Amino acid sequence: MAMLLRPYRTSDRGAVYDICLRTGASGGDASSLVSDPTLFGDLWAGAYVDLEPEHATVLADGDDRAVGYVLAAADTLAFERRCETDWWPDAQARHPVGSGRTPLDQLLVALVHDPPSVDPDVVARYPSHLHIDLLPVAQRQGWGRRMVVRALELVGAAGSTGLHLGVDEANTAAHAFYERIGMELLGSDGSIRTYAATIPPGLPGSGVEAGD
Ligand SMILES: CC(C)(COP(=O)(O)OP(=O)(O)OC[C@H]1O[C@@H](n2cnc3c(N)ncnc32)[C@H](O)[C@@H]1OP(=O)(O)O)[C@@H](O)C(=O)NCCC(=O)NCCS
Repeated sequence: MAMLLRPYRTSDRGAVYDICLRTGASGGDASSLVSDPTLFGDLWAGAYVDLEPEHATVLADGDDRAVGYVLAAADTLAFERRCETDWWPDAQARHPVGSGRTPLDQLLVALVHDPPSVDPDVVARYPSHLHIDLLPVAQRQGWGRRMVVRALELVGAAGSTGLHLGVDEANTAAHAFYERIGMELLGSDGSIRTYAATIPPGLPGSGVEAGD
């Protein structure tokens, strides 16, 4: 199937939420684990496409449907501040404290009300961050590598000098991916690993190479 990378459009929003859910269980499909299918997207996708769409890229299939995305915040601290006013209050109203029928719903609702914030030492060295998810149909064909490079190019063009990301400690496939493409493992808090790459002026050269 012919696929291509293109900038995010608002018409992709539903597909982005769906991909977020279908890759939310340490890279696998989380749809049977939640009763509210919007929780994953409200936590890890919606704010990026709504508040910083210029740094969102989708992988589209032959019917122009999004089958993967890479979403980035160029300035993580500024993005977090913006979320405090322009994202979390509405998300919290959509998911009231104590709502959620399944244990995972309840865990995610608690996160909506107490969003994790980034380690100041990490963000000082790597001010940007990203989220990347591809449906199984798009995995292991070189797209993920190209999409990380695209995100580095976009935030680099916005003046960023480094990018980090968090990945579930259980998502060993993603660890293999990030290590293979040359990202540096900064550490783990026991449940989330942090990987990073520097972005020297004038990409390429971040250590993450696009391949062919
Ligand atoms: C993890 C993910 C982004 C990787 O993207 P991808 O398109 O599948 O990976 P690529 O095909 O670009 O692989 C790039 C390199 O990593 C390697 N790699 C990718 N997945 C791997 C795996 N599971 N085990 C070992 N190596 C792997 C590839 O072999 C390739 O190496 P090569 O260039 O030397 O051949 C994608 O599989 C995905 O979205 N998975 C589900 C959701 C997820 O886990 N997201 C990350 C959350 S932090």
